[in-house]
Amino acid sequence: MQNKTFIAKTFFGLEEVLAQEIREIGGTDVKILNRAVSFVGDKELMYKANIRLRTALRILSPIHQFTFRDQDDFYRQVKKMKWDNYMAYTGELAIDSVVNSKIFTHSKYVALRTKDAVVDYFRDQYGQRPSVNVLHPDLRIHVHISENKCDISLDSSGDPLFMRGYRSGHHIAPLNEVLAAGMVLLSGWDKKSPFVDPMCGSGTLGIEAAMIAHNVAPGVIRTEYGFMNWHDYDEALYLKLKAGLPVLQQGPDIICSDISPVFSRMAKASLKRLGIGDTVKCFTKDFEKLQAIPSDGVIMMNPPYGERLDIPDLLSLYGNIGSRLKHEWMGYDAWILTANVEASKAVGLKSTSKTVLYNGALECRFINYSLYEGSQKQKKAGL
Ligand SMILES: C[S@@+](CC[C@H](N)C(=O)[O-])C[C@H]1O[C@@H](n2cnc3c(N)ncnc32)[C@H](O)[C@@H]1O
Repeated sequence: MQNKTFIAKTFFGLEEVLAQEIREIGGTDVKILNRAVSFVGDKELMYKANIRLRTALRILSPIHQFTFRDQDDFYRQVKKMKWDNYMAYTGELAIDSVVNSKIFTHSKYVALRTKDAVVDYFRDQYGQRPSVNVLHPDLRIHVHISENKCDISLDSSGDPLFMRGYRSGHHIAPLNEVLAAGMVLLSGWDKKSPFVDPMCGSGTLGIEAAMIAHNVAPGVIRTEYGFMNWHDYDEALYLKLKAGLPVLQQGPDIICSDISPVFSRMAKASLKRLGIGDTVKCFTKDFEKLQAIPSDGVIMMNPPYGERLDIPDLLSLYGNIGSRLKHEWMGYDAWILTANVEASKAVGLKSTSKTVLYNGALECRFINYSLYEGSQKQKKAGL
């Protein structure tokens, strides 16, 4: 495959870290888009992007771009494409769509019209048609419409890339793996000093931090990608690039603790699946009793937002977080992700920065507190 443009989709706020990751694996002409990054590379880079990018949700391969007058014109133009370049009539397809247009107002309707056009193309050509399979299609087609402009891409990832395959058990509010990796990368953690998540739940932050520190690819145990069903799939190339199991070196102290014993067991099981079981210390502890390793380091947490707690309890939880950070975790760089702005004020510490991120549909603040002795002394001296 010649060099071509690809689009890596991500979450709001992670575009810059994703762009940096893409440069590191050899992507060129890297451009930041809205919740996405475009880059240029060949087939090898596209495979690598799927296997190695921690903050990408999907890697799209654009195949056609056109403008259309109305809905019928859209259908005609999609039907005109040579779909047998991409799949057989015996195959199964799925369509994802994103729409911002006065011509089409519902993304589901765009997906339906696209499906009709592709199916009708095959029926006209071969008298038979592919079927729809939303969960495990042979070809996932992505349609992006902005007013009268349409971009059609093939989704080379298949299942989204946050599905790393390490989850075991179910936590009620796990962080998305891509978001968690993005938070660790955004923090600028040096991968050498301690990393602590004292409210770890299923352990996503600590697990992603361990994978980053030990250079374990996010695709290390994943075995399926969309591009494997494409006509031009190069298995030898994939096997050459496939992430090998980690050879672990001495790494930093990574600690995952939670007040609930169920969750530390869950985190341990995930780490074992990844083959990095010994890289994280997981245990049960109330944050109020957790002692810091005397060092500088990163403490990052995603406390409850209040869906299941009443407000006085929540404010006192966040107040306790603030006082523990101040008295126990001096020297650390603290990061809190929360959707509850009122509760975040109860932390009572001066923040260094606040970044907007989304946890699912919830708008959150990713708040940094630099707990350095110097900054406290300066504050006391009124500097
Ligand atoms: C939003 S969940 C964290 C989810 C986690 N980031 C994940 O990816 O699975 C918040 C966690 O804080 C824990 N928690 C609440 N109060 C705590 C405390 N005082 N000490 C330690 N953990 C606490 C809860 O048990 C829960 O697992």
